[in-house]
Amino acid sequence: MIAITAESVTPLTDAEITTATPAVRMRGLSKRYDERWVLRDITLDVPTGSYLALLGANGAGKSTLLHTLAMLSPATRGELSLFGESAARPSPALRARLGMIGHQPMLYRDLSAIENLVFFGKLYDVSRPKQRAMDMLERVGLADRALSVVKTFSRGMVQRLSIARALMHAPELLLADEPFSGLDVPSVQAVSALLAELHADGKTVILTNHDVRQSLELAQRVVVLGRGRVVSDRRAQDANADEVTREVIG
Ligand SMILES: Nc1ncnc2c1ncn2[C@@H]1O[C@H](COP(=O)(O)OP(=O)(O)OP(=O)(O)O)[C@@H](O)[C@H]1O
Ligand SMILES: [Mg+2]
Repeated sequence: MIAITAESVTPLTDAEITTATPAVRMRGLSKRYDERWVLRDITLDVPTGSYLALLGANGAGKSTLLHTLAMLSPATRGELSLFGESAARPSPALRARLGMIGHQPMLYRDLSAIENLVFFGKLYDVSRPKQRAMDMLERVGLADRALSVVKTFSRGMVQRLSIARALMHAPELLLADEPFSGLDVPSVQAVSALLAELHADGKTVILTNHDVRQSLELAQRVVVLGRGRVVSDRRAQDANADEVTREVIG
């Protein structure tokens, strides 16, 4: 028998530990709506601290996959774990580690921008929520509209506020469904800077996007979905935009 002493065991480095527990682990993830399979046998690991763009044509399954990862709707088959915890019975603490930007803005239309952010901040136990809320409004270019009620906002303003809301609690995993849709050029830049900062801070970002070139610039890795399956999975730096576009078109 070999005795394992403290000296004979090399401790894992931080990098190895984070690699060992991916932010997201999918194994044969499949989802059916009525008789139609919209996600088919998706097996992927998303390492903690990585930045992934999900591409694919309309109806490919991108939003469905993000919803499943956000534990808003269960997979029909397969396994999903987030930060090593099974999504089958997620703890409230696990949910608090996620942020979701979806098609639904998840904002109260009759409350002001600042009231919305402070409300979500308190829900997530954010310290000094008012200060954080003002800071986030600044970041998304809405500081001057802090006191306006959401129902008076333009579409792009609602989208920016919903991004600020999702980032209020500095989530460890951000799931963003077409975060740039409806945004003007300065807002696209502001939001991509926010996402890059989150990534530089060691957080994990998964977004869906229809702009192949922009995805290759922003993300480290691009995964193309087609009819619910993974069509390709590449490092952004090795990927050719035309080739990825062809895969998206299918
Ligand atoms: N609630 C639902 N009930 C039934 N079918 C659904 C539901 N949600 C999505 N689907 C179906 O699942 C498939 C994938 O849809 P999904 O919204 O995930 O696509 P997507 O890749 O996000 O497309 P887009 O680029 O248009 O946003 C589509 O065929 C869609 O009709
Ligand atoms: Mg979608």
